[in-house]
Amino acid sequence: MAPWHCELTRAHPFDFNSFMTKTVSLHLKRADLIVSHNFIAGNWQASLEPDQPLMPVTDPSDASLITHVADSGAVDALAAVDAAQSAFSDWKSRPAKERATVIKRWNDLIVSHKEDLGKLISREQGKPLAEGEGEVLYAASYVEWFGEQATRSNGEIIPTPANNKRLMAIREPVGVVAVITPWNFPAAMIARKIAPALAAGCTVVAKPAEDTPLTALALAKLAQEAGLPPGVLNIVTTSRTRAAQVVDVWLADDRVRKISFTGSTPVGKHLAKESASTLKKISLELGGNAPFIVFEDADIDAAVEGLMVAKFRNGGQTCVCPNRVYVQTLVHDEFVQKLAVRVAALKVGPARELDSQIGPMINARAVEKIERHVQDAVAKGAKVVTGGHRIQRAESPQAAYFSPTVLTEATPDMVCACEETFGPVVPVTRFDTEAEVVGQANDTPFGLAAYFYSQNPARIWRVMEALECGIVGINEGALAAEAAPFGGVKESGYGREGSVYGLDDYQHIKYFCQGGLG
Ligand code: SIN
Repeated sequence: MAPWHCELTRAHPFDFNSFMTKTVSLHLKRADLIVSHNFIAGNWQASLEPDQPLMPVTDPSDASLITHVADSGAVDALAAVDAAQSAFSDWKSRPAKERATVIKRWNDLIVSHKEDLGKLISREQGKPLAEGEGEVLYAASYVEWFGEQATRSNGEIIPTPANNKRLMAIREPVGVVAVITPWNFPAAMIARKIAPALAAGCTVVAKPAEDTPLTALALAKLAQEAGLPPGVLNIVTTSRTRAAQVVDVWLADDRVRKISFTGSTPVGKHLAKESASTLKKISLELGGNAPFIVFEDADIDAAVEGLMVAKFRNGGQTCVCPNRVYVQTLVHDEFVQKLAVRVAALKVGPARELDSQIGPMINARAVEKIERHVQDAVAKGAKVVTGGHRIQRAESPQAAYFSPTVLTEATPDMVCACEETFGPVVPVTRFDTEAEVVGQANDTPFGLAAYFYSQNPARIWRVMEALECGIVGINEGALAAEAAPFGGVKESGYGREGSVYGLDDYQHIKYFCQGGLG
C-alpha cells in the first residue's frame, strides 16, 4: 500500500471524528522553500522577458495572496531548453547508479520536508492538511521507485540468426523532456514525470499549473540540494494567458524529444497534433469519467466506504474519481441511504482547520462548473438527497466551496454523466442487469478508471475484462500506487506512469549488431 494511503488512514477525513476543530498555521519552518523565481540552468532567476509583470499565487481557502511568481514567456521557455540540452550529454553519460543516488537523495529530502511541503500544497491547492502531507509521501514514493528503477533498466541479448553476428538492444534516454502538470496534485503529478525522466537519463523542462506553481519550485529547490546538476531540471512558471507562449516554444523545438502531459483531453489533443511536426514521443494522462458500479451481491458497507475514499479524495478534484455511480435496483435504496448519511456528515472548510475533510475548490471557474452540472441534473429530473449548493464562508466570501452532494435518478443525458464534474458530487443511477450497466459504463469517449463492487468471482472477472479503461478498482476505492501502471485508454490518453512500464516512455530502444565474429 502506498504511503499516502497510510497517511489517509491515520488522519483520514472519514475516520477522524475524534478531531476537534483546531486551526494550524500554514507557515513553513523553511520559509526559503517558497520561491518566486524560475529555475533555469541551476539559477533562480526572474523572467527574462522585458518588463514582464509577476503572477499572483493565491490561497483558495480564503483567496488571500501567498506570493508572486514569474509570468514567463517564450524567452524563458527557450532558455530552459538551452539549459536542458546543454546538460543532457553529461547527465545521460553518468552511471545509472550515480543518477540513482541523486534521485534517492531527492526522495529523502522530500520525505524529511513532508510537513512543509504538505503545508505548501494545502495553501496553494486548498486540500486538507492530512491530504497535503499524504500527497507529499505519494510524490516521494514515485521518486524512490524510479531512483531504484534507474539501475534496473536492462537491455537484451537477442538470439542470433547467424553465428558470425551478435544482436543486442539497449535502452537510451530520449533527450530533453517537456513536462506539463495540473493543479490537483501539485507534487505527485510532477514527481511521477520528473523522476522517471531523470532515472532514464533525460533532462527536463517543466511548466507547473498556473494555480499551483509553488510546490514545483520547492521540489526543484530540494532537487538542487540533493545534488542534481545545473540544467538537468528546469522549471518555468507562467499564467493561463501566457502558457501557450511557453508550450508553443517547446512544441516547435526539435531538441525537445518528448512531452508528458496530465490535464484535459482538448489540450492533450492539441499537444498530440502540434508535436507531430517534430515527431516527439508523447504521454497523455487526460480526462476521465469513471463509473462506480455496485452490484446486488456486493458488500454494501464496503462499497459505501470505497466510494467515500475514491470520490471525496481532494474534494472530488481527481481524474480517477468516480463521476457516475450505478447501483443495482435491489440494493439501491440501502446504498443511497447509507451514502447520504456519510456525505452529509463531511466537514467542509479551509485547509488550515484540522477537521476539514473537503477543502475549497481550486477557483471560481471550478465551482461554477459544479453548480452548472447540478442545476442541469436537477432540471432534467435528478433529486438532491443532500448538498447541492455553494457554501459561502463569512470570513472568506470569495473562496469557492461546494457542499458534498448526492443526487439520485441521474440519467445519461445529464451533463454530469458525460463530462467530468471535478467536484464533490455523486450522481446515482439505478440499473437492473449486468449487461445494461457495462454498456452504460463504457458509453463514454473516456477510459481512465472504473470501479465495481461484487462478491461473485465469475462476475468479477467478466466485468473487469468488459470495462473499457486503463485502471479497474474491484472492491477497492484507493488504487494509485507507485508500483502500479497509471494511465487510460480511448480519449483518456496513452502512456503509463509509475511501475516498471513508467520508464519506457522516456527511453528509446537502440538495436546494434556486431558482425565479423567468425
Ligand atoms: C490525477 O488526478 O490526475 C491523478 C490522481 C492519482 O494519481 O491518483
